[in-house]
Amino acid sequence: MKVSKLLIGLFAGALSLAAYAQQPIVIKFSHVVAADTPKGKAAEMFAKKAGELTKGKVKVEVYANSTLYKDKEEMEALQLGAVQMLAPSLAKFGPLGVKDFEVFDLPFIFSDLDALRKVTNGAVGKQLLAKLEPKGIRGLGYWDNGFKSFSLNTPIKTPADLKGKKLRIQSSKVLEEQVRALGGLPQVMAFSEVYQALQTGVVDGTENPISNLYTQKMHEVQKHLTVTDHGYLGYAVIVNKKFWDGLPADVRAQLEDAMEQATRYANQIAKVENDGALEAVKKSGKTTVYVPTKEERLAFKKALVPVHQKMEGRVGKEVIQAVYKDTGFKPDSL
Ligand code: LMR
Repeated sequence: MKVSKLLIGLFAGALSLAAYAQQPIVIKFSHVVAADTPKGKAAEMFAKKAGELTKGKVKVEVYANSTLYKDKEEMEALQLGAVQMLAPSLAKFGPLGVKDFEVFDLPFIFSDLDALRKVTNGAVGKQLLAKLEPKGIRGLGYWDNGFKSFSLNTPIKTPADLKGKKLRIQSSKVLEEQVRALGGLPQVMAFSEVYQALQTGVVDGTENPISNLYTQKMHEVQKHLTVTDHGYLGYAVIVNKKFWDGLPADVRAQLEDAMEQATRYANQIAKVENDGALEAVKKSGKTTVYVPTKEERLAFKKALVPVHQKMEGRVGKEVIQAVYKDTGFKPDSL
């Protein structure tokens, strides 16, 4: 009797151990934008591919729209291992102490996505991701959103139209200086709070790629949007380094494959998504969209490019020069 009880116990134990061994590895992927944005869609694509390629060994749970954490908190959560994966905008690494990342925030530094790609796919992109390692973070790749535009309740045609306006920005010293260069008042605020701040007049306006503006319904509380395309907003997909290094090597390789596919997808859809969002904003009739003339855009450029030199001390002359070299940007030839 005793022996058979023991055998049953052993058998049950073995069964539960086997069940435990089959539990999927869960990756919590948190982000702050809507699910139907370039980042939101790419995160879902990664989740799907990760499940397929690992044959269910990994389950990626995507939490959109700041449902788990807001901007600053999500970085802390990743470092503590409360979430395993994020895709914060590149502006969000400065506050972490990796100031070189603010090179991506410099206004007009990338003339187009090809110029940007030369940096993210090249040595500078790699070196920047490597700087995250001492923070317990592994960088897996760069995902686009797109170029930012200014919005307000009053028309924007010249830099002077932003004078005295309270503009919401991400927590970046470069973006702060950018708003000051226009005579505006920078207001740092979490992304999830922007809609309400615009609605209640806590801030007058903001800057964002149109996909973010539209999916957060900011166009319902902003009467004017000018397609200034004055700066880039993209993401680095990052994981908790300890978690990543602790994965079985075969699983990690499958996830790297999934990430490569998701990255390709992200960078294919971002421009299309932003173009679609711009059309949707126009169609809504709630915001007047203005596309500046070449001369008007040049006036913004002239007002904002001096920010590069002004922020050299913060961002680092070396990284700025390296980006100029990759992209062919010449600050003196405007
Ligand atoms: C913002 O805070 O404006 C952006 O970083 C949001 C995002 O993740 O695109």
